[in-house]
Amino acid sequence: MPDLAQSDPETSELDVEPVAETGSSILIVDDDAAVRNVISVLLCEEGYQVRSVGSAEDALSATSAGDTHLVISDLKMPGHDGLWLLDQMRKEHPDTTVLMLTGFGDTEAAVECLRRGAADYLLKPPKVTELVRAIERALSRRRIDLARRRYQRRLERKVMDKTEELVEALQSVEASYQSTLLALVAALDAREHETSDHSQRVVRFTIAIATSLGFTGKELAEIGRGALLHDIGKIGVPDSILLKPGPLTREEWVEMRKHPDIGFQILKSIPFLTTPAEIVLSHQERFDGGGYPRGLAGQGIPIGARIFAIADTFDAITSDRPYRKGRSYDAAREEIARCATTQFDPDCVKAFLALDNERLRELRAAVAQVG
Ligand SMILES: [Fe+2]
Repeated sequence: MPDLAQSDPETSELDVEPVAETGSSILIVDDDAAVRNVISVLLCEEGYQVRSVGSAEDALSATSAGDTHLVISDLKMPGHDGLWLLDQMRKEHPDTTVLMLTGFGDTEAAVECLRRGAADYLLKPPKVTELVRAIERALSRRRIDLARRRYQRRLERKVMDKTEELVEALQSVEASYQSTLLALVAALDAREHETSDHSQRVVRFTIAIATSLGFTGKELAEIGRGALLHDIGKIGVPDSILLKPGPLTREEWVEMRKHPDIGFQILKSIPFLTTPAEIVLSHQERFDGGGYPRGLAGQGIPIGARIFAIADTFDAITSDRPYRKGRSYDAAREEIARCATTQFDPDCVKAFLALDNERLRELRAAVAQVG
């Protein structure tokens, strides 16, 4: 008998259970009682635990517990035939091996049995030695298949565990990035504004408008990051200009207007911030082309920047400044609606106006949830 467990190098790593072949449970299925009896007696003498039934239907109920190692089935039987039983066994009990008994001249049927997953076929009446060898071969192959499946399952579990660990690690890296960015922006806000949460409010308004425009997932998170980092370039603007109480001179404006480009230069080489970097570069553009630094117009301005422009203006109008009180939400709405097509993208304005004052108040009050 060929020893498959040793001849197959793939199985060397497999955990093949040392099951005694002779203790295996075998079910004989044949409508001819004489055939059943002969084979039963023979296999009992070989040390197998043998049961026998007279039909495919009975075979199915006899194997329902799932503890049958091998089924030896006749092909032609009244009622459901051996092929039907083979199909049922493959479906219901894939761990049970099936050996088929076929008549002389029925080669096509024999090939069909193998195609549908039978371990082997024997011509009727089978020779004793051939039958025993075929059983041993089939049982041996079954043990290897089972071990291979167990090994596969273990591998799949390992891959799943490792994938989970990786996802967790990536999430924690992302969370660290996010808190680093929030800390950096809070420091910048504190330098320029009375309160330190201007940028976070703008993020919330930007995300709300982007959401009502249909953005979700990664795209939404990137738009939120662009809004968060919009003024990061002001790090390169001297205090004497950024914090000057009076109006800026022409030269000072030139310096001030460099901040989108400075921000872009800071962020562009950080791989997960390339899209936010584009928003930072474009956040002072106007829909009619009158903005800076590139004088982009219409759809040429990244969508995140078009959305941000509205959120930033809304926050500026409604926030208190040292020299004036913040104006009402309705006044801000009117102003933004008036500037649709000049300063702002009219589609983004429409999405903004769809948010009611109650929602905007909630967003202003909410704790920052930047994606
Ligand atoms: Fe800015």
